[in-house]
Amino acid sequence: MAIDQRQQVREQTQHLIAKFATGDAQHLPSLFRSIYGDHYLSAEVYRPEAFISANANGTCNSLVALDRCGLPIGHLGILRSAPHAGVRELGQGVVDLNHRTQGLLGQLIDACISEADRDPGCHGLFGAALTNHVFSQRALWKAEFVDVGFEIGFVPARMMQIEAPGAGPTATVLQYRAMDDAPSKVCYLPSAYSDLALALYEQMRLTRVYATSDQPLDLAGPGQMEVIDLPRFDLVRINVWRIGNDLTAYIGRAVAEARRKGRTMVQLALSLNSPCTDAAVEAMRAAGFWFGALLPRWMDDDALLLQRAIGRPWFGDIELYTNDAKALLRFVQEDAARQPVLL
Ligand SMILES: CC(C)(COP(=O)(O)OP(=O)(O)OC[C@H]1O[C@@H](n2cnc3c(N)ncnc32)[C@H](O)[C@@H]1OP(=O)(O)O)[C@@H](O)C(=O)NCCC(=O)NCCS
Repeated sequence: MAIDQRQQVREQTQHLIAKFATGDAQHLPSLFRSIYGDHYLSAEVYRPEAFISANANGTCNSLVALDRCGLPIGHLGILRSAPHAGVRELGQGVVDLNHRTQGLLGQLIDACISEADRDPGCHGLFGAALTNHVFSQRALWKAEFVDVGFEIGFVPARMMQIEAPGAGPTATVLQYRAMDDAPSKVCYLPSAYSDLALALYEQMRLTRVYATSDQPLDLAGPGQMEVIDLPRFDLVRINVWRIGNDLTAYIGRAVAEARRKGRTMVQLALSLNSPCTDAAVEAMRAAGFWFGALLPRWMDDDALLLQRAIGRPWFGDIELYTNDAKALLRFVQEDAARQPVLL
């Protein structure tokens, strides 16, 4: 929207939801700082030029809420944070303390969905709502997002010092809203999680071709994997694009390195594109991993998120909105309790 149009709309209304304009960038860092101090998960939100370049190159499509003076008082980004560019994350959602409970988050979410809907390259949106308050979960639920899992121990306690101090890291609920279906996608489900996955696909109204996952790991060729260290989150994320016969050794080395660096969680995103999926999941469960989430189109193919703590996982202070999320959390906790705690 052009600057003069922004001005006209603002004169008629209290707030305006608009696409990011370059002038917003200088104000956004202080909005994040007023809520999270200097500890927000991405250091980029403290750099005006990062908002400008991310919005120019498409890694973020920012929607802002503006007050009557045209200053940004809210932000929500459509982020390319998944390995596959076809799914995006609604993230970096903040509303200024003085403008809360006036529906701004809801309006920002609706505006982001309309944006995503206009983009034929966008297959779906993820949300990662914090579990220390239920209203952001509810806002995504109202926008037809489905709970697909959890990132346990995801947000370090230091980031929540201003907003909601807690005794441990805050988990997030992962929620997904499909923008289209991919009925010819082949998907190998591991037996440990197939009932749950089928129920989640049904809830998301997604269709897949389910194939039998019955090959042992040693029949897989070399794997294709990458380790991403995320020190601001205290975690390491491993993407397994292709399961290989070297999976167990590779993950063992990555976990040892994560422990050495003082990380507290390891997340493993496993593409569901291989007949060795079941064997891989059993190997990872024996290595202490448990269910995290089902992630449609995460790696273009769907993926399974597994996770494990280095030490004991922190399940404290989790408040959930939907009954589905509560049932899913029980499943995750029982699954975590069944796997060995490897210190
Ligand atoms: C989460 C946050 C963005 C919500 O912004 P907001 O503009 O106040 O949210 P909305 O006014 O759109 O509220 C959405 C719903 O939650 C309710 N709500 C919001 N804040 C609430 C609070 N503190 N207590 C109870 N309910 C609350 C609203 O009444 C509204 O309910 P409704 O849908 O029935 O009308 C804001 O509190 C914030 O910036 N928090 C810190 C950052 C954060 O936690 N971000 C997480 C994004 S996942």
